[in-house]
Amino acid sequence: VSFRRVAIVIGAGRGIGAETARLLAAQGDAVMLVDRASDDPRVPYHLASVADLNAAADAARSAAPDPAVISTAVADTTDVEAMQAMVTATEARYGGIDAVVAAAGVIAGGVPLWEMPAAQIEAVLDVDLGGVIKAARVALPALLRRSEPREGRFVAIASTAATRGLPELAAYCAAKAGVTGLIRGLAAELRGTGITANCVSPGSTDTQILAESARLYHLAGPREFIPQQVIGRLIEPAEIAASLAWLAGPSSGAVTGTNMAVDGGLGL
Ligand SMILES: NC(=O)c1ccc[n+]([C@@H]2O[C@H](COP(=O)([O-])OP(=O)(O)OC[C@H]3O[C@@H](n4cnc5c(N)ncnc54)[C@H](O)[C@@H]3O)[C@@H](O)[C@H]2O)c1
Repeated sequence: VSFRRVAIVIGAGRGIGAETARLLAAQGDAVMLVDRASDDPRVPYHLASVADLNAAADAARSAAPDPAVISTAVADTTDVEAMQAMVTATEARYGGIDAVVAAAGVIAGGVPLWEMPAAQIEAVLDVDLGGVIKAARVALPALLRRSEPREGRFVAIASTAATRGLPELAAYCAAKAGVTGLIRGLAAELRGTGITANCVSPGSTDTQILAESARLYHLAGPREFIPQQVIGRLIEPAEIAASLAWLAGPSSGAVTGTNMAVDGGLGL
């Protein structure tokens, strides 16, 4: 088996995470695709299934120079023991880890915060912020186990919701703002290690989370978000994946602590 670097993508069952895994695979990385691959009973829409995760892995294999270096793990980003086991298995299989992309997320809202069921608020904070913290707690020691000089990368997905107040999404705004603060703190903690920490903030990107957002706002569908986008269209998951794959790769070493808007102008 041959590969460039070793990358883990959490939330790789579909959407932005699946596209990121495919792109990293195309660039020659060994990729571990990780997803909960089951519904979260606290949110009222479907998450990725095991079949979705397997399809994402097959797409990555088709793009990879060596399909043997693509693997999957069913693990929940909020379960730190499951995350640790997945990291340990990845290190054992490929000899170390160079990049971790924390792409798992859920959305809930559609009412003001004070009308939101407590379980939904908890799900959003638990997965969208707590899940990134748990991924970081197990990923960064693994990235630090690489010998120097290293080019380790921790990359998370925030959102335009991190910096814009979006009505009926206050919990999601809070979690995503938390991710941007976490990334700044981590970048400072990683001073001089060769490891960077960054996040990408997508605008309206054509995935299941956007479809659920449209439903929460009682819109006919995600295309009704187009007028908010300066580029006049929805963003494709592959366009977000391109920025994540660059931040996860060796040529982004001068960038750390940043929140990169890939938002089609939504945040203007
Ligand atoms: N689509 C957009 O417009 C948009 C905009 C801004 C930010 N984002 C963020 O992008 C990220 C990717 O979302 P997407 O748009 O591809 O939506 P998506 O729903 O298609 O993908 C999310 C993935 O995360 C997985 N997941 C959810 N909870 C998990 C958990 N606890 N553990 C492991 N995996 C879990 C799901 O199964 C799914 O595969 C999310 O963090 C989301 O908040 C999306």
